[in-house]
Amino acid sequence: MRDGTVAPEDVAADAPRFLKEFQARNDGILDVREQSALMALRVLIAGCGSVGGSAVEPLSRLGVGSLVLADPDGYEISNLNRQLCVYADIGRPKVEVAAERARAINPLIELAQEPAGVTEDNLVSLLDGVGVVFDAIDSAPPSLWIKYLLHRHAARLRIPVLLGVDLGGKPTVYVWDYRRNPCPFYGKANESDFREGREVEALRSYVGLTAIPADFFPVIRSRISGEPAPWPQVAYCATSMGAIVSRIVIDLALSEPVRPVVSMDVHQLPQTPRRRLRSLLRWPIEAAVTLRAAANAGDGFDAGAPAGAPDGSVSRVGLRSVLDAIRLAPSGHNTQPWRLNIIDERTVRVGRDPHRALPAVDPDGRYVCYGIGCAIESAATVADIEWEPGPNGNPLDDGWHGGTLRINDIDWLAYARSIGQLGARSTNRAPYYLHPPSREALATLRRAGSRFEACEAIPLTHRLQELADLTYEAAAANFADQAFLEELLDWIHVDRRDSAHGEDGFTAATLRLAPPAAAAIRLLKRSPHARRLAAKGWLPHLFASDARRTLRASGAAFALCSNDKTPRGRVLGGRALLALWLAAANAGLALQPVNFALDSPVTRDAFADLAGAGREADLVALVRIGYATAPAAPSARLPLGQLVDEPAGSAVEVGA
Ligand SMILES: Cc1cc2nc3c(=O)[nH]c(=O)nc-3n(C[C@H](O)[C@H](O)[C@H](O)COP(=O)(O)O)c2cc1C
Repeated sequence: MRDGTVAPEDVAADAPRFLKEFQARNDGILDVREQSALMALRVLIAGCGSVGGSAVEPLSRLGVGSLVLADPDGYEISNLNRQLCVYADIGRPKVEVAAERARAINPLIELAQEPAGVTEDNLVSLLDGVGVVFDAIDSAPPSLWIKYLLHRHAARLRIPVLLGVDLGGKPTVYVWDYRRNPCPFYGKANESDFREGREVEALRSYVGLTAIPADFFPVIRSRISGEPAPWPQVAYCATSMGAIVSRIVIDLALSEPVRPVVSMDVHQLPQTPRRRLRSLLRWPIEAAVTLRAAANAGDGFDAGAPAGAPDGSVSRVGLRSVLDAIRLAPSGHNTQPWRLNIIDERTVRVGRDPHRALPAVDPDGRYVCYGIGCAIESAATVADIEWEPGPNGNPLDDGWHGGTLRINDIDWLAYARSIGQLGARSTNRAPYYLHPPSREALATLRRAGSRFEACEAIPLTHRLQELADLTYEAAAANFADQAFLEELLDWIHVDRRDSAHGEDGFTAATLRLAPPAAAAIRLLKRSPHARRLAAKGWLPHLFASDARRTLRASGAAFALCSNDKTPRGRVLGGRALLALWLAAANAGLALQPVNFALDSPVTRDAFADLAGAGREADLVALVRIGYATAPAAPSARLPLGQLVDEPAGSAVEVGA
């Protein structure tokens, strides 16, 4: 004992003094009864992964007397994001690392390790002397049956069992206090579902639908319809699980009655009442859609088979990863005009989908080229690729394509970072704060937008007012044009029942339409008469004023121009646009292209003059930039399967 602290070697010799100091800061929150009950308690942690492992540290720190740790697995790199391990533990048995951690916290804790995990053979001995069981056994067969046996034996011995389920940001703990009702799963489970490995049926018998947070339903649906993949799990969900379980253990140790289901949605905790209400209202819809998808999937749905891991070489997985990156690219009206023609496992040709054209806004195929450029830059952001440009003919002709991508190599660490950056980029149509970004940030953006030959990002922050006025003039002319208006309305899906809602174009949320505006759009979409009247009357002024207001509410602006009007030059223009956009996103800056002024023949020359770009220049985009006052709503994307043409018998199997 030195300086009032306890040296590890002295601990056993002077246990009472150690315990007094160890528990000193629990005093006042835990009373003497609680602390003593914990010290006398032996807890079986059945499964020491994200769920079970989460309780090891809080229970040890609270001063639990004894832990029995059972798990057959060792740590993998993918466990580092949430489990008890550090990098040096990779490959080591989970029970060993967990025991080491518990003992490092409390040298007096009594520990037993079972590296075989819970089995039919060791079940009885593992339960010996145990006061509470934390069941974190994997629910996939064959351990599903062991899970049932654990409950059956615990129920016979009248030992309470906690069972943890972590979905999204919501840890849920089910409590079976078998001292009060000694029937496994309180009679709700069908033994044969467990024995015969019917995981979904078995889970249904105890995991209530309400344990599933609204934001996890899309994950479930993606697993139902897409490639099997491991379920996502995050650190704060695991940490909260440990917090909930450790408190329940104290109550059970004192034989206090406990609620049968205890949960907390960490994602919802910081939300304002309005956002929370929105999630609440979203929940029944998400649940219904997911139940329908599950019913349609029938028996073919494999809940959790692991996906193929990237192996460092360009492979099926590598190509798929690059295609996933392309899918995140932006495009005018969010048409996603790409047709991805797979040539082999390293090569893909990026063509255009004629069904996703914009004849009114884009009669000469500029936007097709820019969209393809954005797709190519997305691919180049995540992998080392070579781009061989396509033919220089008319981009709207059959057979034209934007070029061929050859994947040379993928650095998976860089991939993980850049796919995250691509996903974080968005079009933010909210007002931005008026104070401009720092000079350094603007210089970085300018460099990024001027990276490709013939392209230049021209700073126009000092001309925002004039740009806003030009934008008003152009937008008023555009919205008075019946063909422009009809085309735009075709790509706005205000109605959730619209089959393209969530797949392409705009939603009310991405356009930040207030309910009356969404209702007006609905009416315009339905009634040609209303469209004619609106285009002649109030609509051009109203929408153009909104565009002008938006542009004024910006911290900075750039014109992106190029001296190369060939399709190849325009594809490069699209690449430059995405490069600038990503640089902005990396600097925490929001961005929105507002292209009325440079697209409209009414204002095009005035815009080119204002930017000092020359009237012959190709005007790619006017982008407003700044610190956003509100986040952007996520925009829709087509399933990858709809973008890809695979050769017959292809090994790529992109699927939906
Ligand atoms: C070349 C180009 C021009 C665009 N022009 C506009 C525009 O004038 N106004 C606008 O609000 N968004 C514009 N966008 C943004 C797209 O609508 C947006 O990228 C698409 O809806 C996908 O949404 P996301 O960027 O949030 O992923 C443009 C995008 C591109 C690639």
